[in-house]
Amino acid sequence: MKTKPIGIFDSGVGGLSVVKILLDRLPFESFVFYGDTAHVPYGTKSRDELCTYSKDIISFLLSREVKTIVVACNTSSSITLPEIEKTCPIPILGVAKPGAREAARVTRNGKIGVIATQATVNSGSFSANIKAIDSDYEIFSVACPRLVPMVESGVFGGLETRQAVEEYTAPILRQGIDTLVMGCTHYPFLAPVISDIAGNRVTLVDPAAETIEELIEILGQNNILNDNHAAGTREFYVSGNEDSFYKVGRLLIGDVIQKVEQIKLD
Ligand code: DGL
Repeated sequence: MKTKPIGIFDSGVGGLSVVKILLDRLPFESFVFYGDTAHVPYGTKSRDELCTYSKDIISFLLSREVKTIVVACNTSSSITLPEIEKTCPIPILGVAKPGAREAARVTRNGKIGVIATQATVNSGSFSANIKAIDSDYEIFSVACPRLVPMVESGVFGGLETRQAVEEYTAPILRQGIDTLVMGCTHYPFLAPVISDIAGNRVTLVDPAAETIEELIEILGQNNILNDNHAAGTREFYVSGNEDSFYKVGRLLIGDVIQKVEQIKLD
């Protein structure tokens, strides 16, 4: 059981921001990554569609005999995880709760900004999770629909990205936030631009770091942390075009991505 892989999924390359931290913190673990690129962006999809995608991907990951699942997508973590975790036969965790926890921990003035997909903002999950920690905190959320397509197409900076980030964040920066949660796993790949615009008085939160700490805790509690220090295996699957995931993915996390295979689940 200990040497079995970890399952990870997202709508696309965004989940690789979680993989990056996983590789750093748990270099001996094997994993199976699924990018649902035929359905990206998730941020515009309905709850029913998102539930179907999550269920199909979880079945696929279970067929690969994963020992635990990381939902490396804030949209699915916010909308489908509360339902699917009830029936998932293995430990499963998302990025939204750890992200909220980290934001609540680092804020000094209690004003927290959240940038995320439209679906995540509509779900109110970050507000609910942060307010569950301290109801006095004020949360200012904004949807940034143009950012995911940019990252998916390999655009991580430049004028267009800067203008979009400026436009989206202006109203929440005006509220005097001191903490900004990148509430979509695609956004950490734009962190240099976001942090430049937010300024050095604002702490950027990438939920991935806290998520991987929670994963380590879960693996430990279940006695399934891999203690065999041989190099882990890394498998990457997508529902859409494998070449574009391969190209953009390697720009983001390098040659850890050796091969990408297309497997359609519907
Ligand atoms: N990266 C995902 C998230 O964290 C999904 C983004 C999308 O496909 O719209 O929400």
